[in-house]
Amino acid sequence: MRKVPFIDLGPQTAAVKADVLRLWEELFAKSAFSGGEYVERFEREWVAYLGAGHGLQAIGCSDGTTAIVLVLRGMGIGPGDEVVCPPTSYFATAEAVALAGARPTFADVDAATGNLDPSQVEAALTSRTRAVVAVHLAGRPAPLDELRAIADRRGLRLVEDAAQAQGAEYRGRRVGALSDAGTFSFYPTKNLGAFGEAGAVVTHDAALAARIRAMRDHGQTARHRHEHIGYNARLHGMQACVLASKVAWLDRWNDERRALAERYRRSLEGVPVGLPPEPMGARHVYHLFAARTPRREALAAHLDASGVGTGSHYPTPIHLQPAFAHLGHRRGAFPNAERYAAEQLSLPLFPGLPPEDVDRVAAAVREFFNAPA
Ligand SMILES: Cc1ncc(COP(=O)(O)O)c(C=O)c1O
Repeated sequence: MRKVPFIDLGPQTAAVKADVLRLWEELFAKSAFSGGEYVERFEREWVAYLGAGHGLQAIGCSDGTTAIVLVLRGMGIGPGDEVVCPPTSYFATAEAVALAGARPTFADVDAATGNLDPSQVEAALTSRTRAVVAVHLAGRPAPLDELRAIADRRGLRLVEDAAQAQGAEYRGRRVGALSDAGTFSFYPTKNLGAFGEAGAVVTHDAALAARIRAMRDHGQTARHRHEHIGYNARLHGMQACVLASKVAWLDRWNDERRALAERYRRSLEGVPVGLPPEPMGARHVYHLFAARTPRREALAAHLDASGVGTGSHYPTPIHLQPAFAHLGHRRGAFPNAERYAAEQLSLPLFPGLPPEDVDRVAAAVREFFNAPA
C-alpha cells in the first residue's frame, strides 16, 4: 500500500522550480551570492506581504535562531537579563535567549494550544525581566493583545517568534509585524521555506532595524567600520530567490493547509482524540496539525504500521532539556507544557497532500480507537 508521508516538499518545489531557476540564472550572471540585490528584493516583498503599513522593515538573515539572537541583542538584552518564553516550542526559542547571554525564564502554556498563557507570564516576571518571546506554535497565533497589555504595564519588549506561522493572522493582521519585533525561520519545511537555511527579522523600530542590519554583517555600519561585535548572519542570495518565488504561493498553500485541517476535523468527528481548536479572531495556518492523546506512542506505532508518517513536536519540553539543567527545573514545574509534550502527535498535513490521504489517515486513527465511521 502507498505510504502517506509525514511531509513531502516535492509538490511545493515543483510549483516554483521554473521561477527559481530563472532567478538563479540572473543571479549567477551578477554573482549576487551573499546579501545584495536579491536579498533586498525579498526583504521588500516580505514587507509588502505582511502588509503592515508604513515603516515596517525586514532584515533577511541566516536562520530563524539567529533572527531571535539579533533581535534580543539589538534591544540591548544580554547578561543579567531575563526573557520569558514558553517551554513548548522548538528548542531554538530558548536557546536563542541563552545565546544572547540572557536567562530564559519559562511560563506555562495554555493546555489546549501550547501557546503562552498570559496569566502564567505575569507570574514569571521578575525585576530582571526585559522581554517576552511569544511563539505562534504550529501556526496558531499567540494571544498578542493580552501579552501586549502585560508588556506595556511592565515596560517589557514583546517579540514574536513566528517561525511556524508565515501568513497567520491575528485580528485580521499578519503575525510577525504585530509586536516590537518578529522573527521568521525559513527552514525548508516551514510554511514559507528556503532550499536550505534562511530567516528574517521584521520591525517598525528604525533604530533597532539599523542595529540588526549591522549585526548580521559583523557589526558593520559602513564599509570597514565595525561598531558592534556581530555575526556572519547574512541571507544568501540564492535562498532569497527561492523565498521570492514562493511568497506568491504562500496564501494558496496556507488555504490548502486550512482545507486539509478542516477535512481532518470532519473525518475525525466523534473519535476520542484531541484536535487543534480553530481559534476565534485569528487565522491558524497549520504548519502542524497537532492532535493530542495520552496514548500518543501507541497511536504513532499503529499509524506507522498502517503506512502513515507522524511527528512529535516536541516530546521533551525545553525546561527539561539537559542543556538547561542548570536552570534547576524539575518535572512538574510546567504541567501543561509537560502534558502537551507527552500527548502531542502531528498528523501529515502539507500543500500537495491529496485530500483522500487525509481520509486514509483518519480511517487509521478511527481503527486505533475502534471508533465506527
Ligand atoms: C518556533 C521556532 N523557533 C525558532 C526556530 C529556529 O529556526 P531555524 O531552524 O531557522 O534556526 C524554529 C525552527 O526550526 C522554530 O520552529
